[in-house]
Amino acid sequence: MKVLITGVAGLLGSHFSRHLLDNGYMVIGVDNLFGGYEENIDKRIMWYNRNLDDYNNLQIIFEREKPDYVYHFAAYAAVGLSPFIRNFNYVNNILCSVNVVNCCIKFGVKKLIFSSSMDVYGDQVPPFTEVLTPQPMSPYGIAKYAVELDLKNANEQFGLNYTIIRPHNIIGIYQNIWDKYRNVIGIWIRKAINNEPLLIYGNGLHSRAFSDVKYYMKPFEQCMLNANTDKETINIGADKVYSLNDIASLVVKTAESFGIKAEVKHVESRHEVLHAFCNHDKAKKILSFKDETIAEIVIKDMFAWAMKQPNREVKIMKYEIDKGLYSFWK
Ligand SMILES: NC(=O)c1ccc[n+]([C@@H]2O[C@H](COP(=O)([O-])OP(=O)(O)OC[C@H]3O[C@@H](n4cnc5c(N)ncnc54)[C@H](O)[C@@H]3O)[C@@H](O)[C@H]2O)c1
Repeated sequence: MKVLITGVAGLLGSHFSRHLLDNGYMVIGVDNLFGGYEENIDKRIMWYNRNLDDYNNLQIIFEREKPDYVYHFAAYAAVGLSPFIRNFNYVNNILCSVNVVNCCIKFGVKKLIFSSSMDVYGDQVPPFTEVLTPQPMSPYGIAKYAVELDLKNANEQFGLNYTIIRPHNIIGIYQNIWDKYRNVIGIWIRKAINNEPLLIYGNGLHSRAFSDVKYYMKPFEQCMLNANTDKETINIGADKVYSLNDIASLVVKTAESFGIKAEVKHVESRHEVLHAFCNHDKAKKILSFKDETIAEIVIKDMFAWAMKQPNREVKIMKYEIDKGLYSFWK
């Protein structure tokens, strides 16, 4: 079985491609290294360094490789930054996805598995369940919801089979810790290593549920094996909720175990959903999902990995508008 993974150099793509290879699948990757690193990609993978915005190139890849299944993980998932890079966000997260959808239809892919996001729910009362009507509060969430709707349409019109997964706050090695706009725990680990304060936007009472990427591999695989997932939308993530203050304390404690004294600093708050976590009953039932994350362990593993990484340059995005831009991003 041949599986094409977009975003193969990122957190989910790099872990899932290894899982598939270890289980006898043929894996093809596509990534433009915008948010991931070549070093994350397993050497066994044949991959294309391409931007998904190039439809012609993508068609050539599909024609040549003829994948049975496609996992579409590529995106720029910077929720808080997305209002300041609206155009980039919609091109990268909607139009690139549309190119993938087109190719899946055109080249007879058996199923497209799309990684959406909890962000589609917006500021509703958590835990969010799949029956809620999405009310995204960021251009990133709007883009994800648009692709979800597009997939439903592609199914109705062309019979394209799909599963939509809505993950949240996944962590692990290979996560981009050099992007200052996303992946809070990764950012804090980098800052701790560089003796910079760990910034909390606002009072830190927001709640999120973090989970170890390793518990997602078999459930993701289920999405192509299990017909009960066809045309379904499924939340996936940890049940245990932390305040940002509590998870920052855990990073500080972990830093201490590596001989690093880290400090937390509160700065201005951002426009963001304060309490965001999901109900995962459906994933537990359909995908046999069982999250056994121990935050202390996965953060320690990430820290140990991060200590061995090169001190990469932190990228600054080209803002399309800077009205209301937070001081910490100027
Ligand atoms: N990690 C999470 O907690 C989380 C939560 C919710 C949703 N998601 C979604 O899951 C998917 C994977 O997330 P991740 O954490 O692995 O992100 P990531 O940034 O680590 O990986 C995404 C990869 O996609 C690539 N990419 C981006 N735009 C591209 C383009 N135009 N062409 C080709 N490649 C491109 C990047 O270079 C990167 O390697 C994303 O769609 C994200 O929105 C992730």
